[in-house]
Amino acid sequence: MQIDPRDGDKTTNYRIMRNLVIPRPIALVSTLNEAGRVNVAPFSFFGVVSAHPPVIGISIGSRKGLDKDTMANARRTRELVINLTTEDMKNGMIISAMDFPPDESEVEPSGFTTTASTVVRPPRIAESPAQMECRVTEIMEFGESHQRRNFVIAEVVMFHVDDACLRNDGLPDHLQFGILGRLGDDYYWGRKGSFELKRTKYENWLKTRK
Ligand SMILES: Cc1cc2nc3c(=O)[nH]c(=O)nc-3n(C[C@H](O)[C@H](O)[C@H](O)COP(=O)(O)O)c2cc1C
Repeated sequence: MQIDPRDGDKTTNYRIMRNLVIPRPIALVSTLNEAGRVNVAPFSFFGVVSAHPPVIGISIGSRKGLDKDTMANARRTRELVINLTTEDMKNGMIISAMDFPPDESEVEPSGFTTTASTVVRPPRIAESPAQMECRVTEIMEFGESHQRRNFVIAEVVMFHVDDACLRNDGLPDHLQFGILGRLGDDYYWGRKGSFELKRTKYENWLKTRK
């Protein structure tokens, strides 16, 4: 079977890409909002653009034609931190993916804690075993205005790796991270294979909190 992307709408093409380009690492991105509150959200349309200089790219969709909070913050401050997401962080990660109002931080509700960065202002997520402090260098736009996607290109200005996840030669030990991979639909990849993790709507989650 072949599928011409020009025949599909935004949702269909998104679902095809989501289920085809797998497994994907998950960047838990911390940024600062206008009031200086910490915003955290996961992004799996994410990857390496260049190793030297170290540059990463994150594809951020829009919400009803408007920037998601991470995008608005990255655009304004030109700074962000990419926190590696591990399987142990999955419950917090899925909470941080909810549609929180822009002035509300996801950090505490997700059960995460922060630790200061050394070069940029957004803090790191302490529960993550490795983080990359980044400066935004370029923002590329794709799609029409009401369904725009931005590709944020950012240079890593500092790497942090938990000492427990370093090998004797000083390189990160990928086997120690217990990394979480994103598969298609609501499926993820962990130490014991694939599993499903459904997202909750912010409104429904609020009801469970009361
Ligand atoms: C595992 C996972 C991966 C995600 N990847 C992306 C992505 O690559 N791009 C995107 O725009 N949204 C992605 N999302 C959805 C955002 O996390 C979600 O829209 C979030 O509310 C954005 O938060 P913000 O408004 O604070 O930036 C992902 C969600 C999950 C659970």
